Amino acid sequence: MTAPLLFHDPYIEWVQQQRAEWFDHDLGASGLVLAWDWAAWGVDLAAAPADAPNGCGYEPLRCRIAARLGVRPEQVLLAPGCTGANALVLAALVRRGDRVAVETPVYSPPVSVARGLGAKLVRLPRRADDGWRLDLANRDAFMRRLEGCALLFITNPHNPTGQVLDAADLTRIASACAAAGTVLVVDEIYREFPGAAGVPSAVGLGERVLVTSSVTKAYGLGGLRVGWIAGPVDLVDRCAAANQALLGRGSVVGEWLVDQLMEREDRWRALRETIAGRVEAGRAAADAFVRRRGELDWVRTEAGVCGLVKLPAGMSGHVLAARARERGRVFLVPGEFFGAPGYVRLSFGAGPARVAAGLAALDAVLDAGTAMR
Ligand SMILES: Cc1ncc(COP(=O)(O)O)c(C=O)c1O
Repeated sequence: MTAPLLFHDPYIEWVQQQRAEWFDHDLGASGLVLAWDWAAWGVDLAAAPADAPNGCGYEPLRCRIAARLGVRPEQVLLAPGCTGANALVLAALVRRGDRVAVETPVYSPPVSVARGLGAKLVRLPRRADDGWRLDLANRDAFMRRLEGCALLFITNPHNPTGQVLDAADLTRIASACAAAGTVLVVDEIYREFPGAAGVPSAVGLGERVLVTSSVTKAYGLGGLRVGWIAGPVDLVDRCAAANQALLGRGSVVGEWLVDQLMEREDRWRALRETIAGRVEAGRAAADAFVRRRGELDWVRTEAGVCGLVKLPAGMSGHVLAARARERGRVFLVPGEFFGAPGYVRLSFGAGPARVAAGLAALDAVLDAGTAMR
C-alpha cells in the first residue's frame, strides 16, 4: 500500500490537468493574462543580474515593496510567488498538532500545506446569506473558535467570493488574534488589483500580523514567481530562516524585472488604469449575466476578478464545470474545491470581448437545459 501524499491540493492538481486546447472561453482563471512587451517598456534584459547576495530578495525590490506598504525593508521577505510566501509562513510558524484556523469557502493550497505540516484545522464559516462575511459580530464566539490556534489564515479580498474586509473588520480580527495569541496571516494578492485600491492592508495591525502577496494575479506576471511576506521583524526573520532551509533564495532575475517595471511609474500607473477598466467592465458583465439567469444567484463581487455563483438546488459545481467544458468549451472552476458545493467560481478578467463571448457560450450551455444533468 502506498502512503498517502503528505502535501496534496486537489484544486491545484485539477487546474494543472486542464488543457488549453479543451477551451475557447476562460471564465475560470483567477488572474489576468496580459501581453507583456519588455522592450516596449524600455527594459534591457541583458542588464539583468544573474545573482544577488541578499537571501531576503533583490534589495531594490524589497525596498520598493516596503515603501509601498509603509514598512521598513527588514520587515519584508521576497518569496517565490504568493504560494511560496504562504508556504514559508506556514512552515515557519506551524508545528505538528497546532490548531490552524481557516475561512470557508477557502483558497485551498495554504490549507493543504497546513494539513501536510500536521496542523488541526478549525473552520471559520463565511455564509452566503451574510454576504460571505466572517461572523465577527459575536466576538466571544469568534474568540472561542480561535482558542488555542497558532495561526489564522484569511484572504482579503477573499478568493473565491471577491468580498472585502474593511479596516474595522481587520482591526477586530487582529485584536481577537492578539488576545488569543494567534498569528494572523492575510493573503492580500487580490489587493493588487487597482479596483481594490480602497482595500486596506492588514500590515502594521499588530505584533502578530503578517501579510502575503505577489504580482501574479493583477499583472499577469505569475511566471516570474515574485511574491512577498511583510510584517514584524521577528516573524519575518522566522520566515527568512525557513526560506534559507527550504528554498535557499528566489529568482533574482524575476525580482529585478518586477523592480524595473514598477520603477517606470508613469507606465505602471497607466497599466493599472487599463487593468481597472477591464476588471470593472468584466465585473458589470458578470453581474448582469447572473441577474439575467433566473436559475443562478451570487453576491456581487467587490474586488478581484471572480465570484461564487450559486447553482439551482441539488446541482453540483463539478457537473456544471464538466458540461461547460464539453458543450461550450468554457472553463469554470467547481466550487467544491473551495468548500462550496453547489457553486461554480466565475471569473471575469479575460477582457470585455472575451468575457462577453464566454458568457454567451455559457448562456447557450445553460439554455440547452441539459447542463445540470
Ligand atoms: C488567494 C491566492 N493566493 C495565492 C495565489 C497564488 O499566487 P502565486 O501565483 O503568486 O503563487 C492565488 C492564486 O490563485 C490565490 O488566489
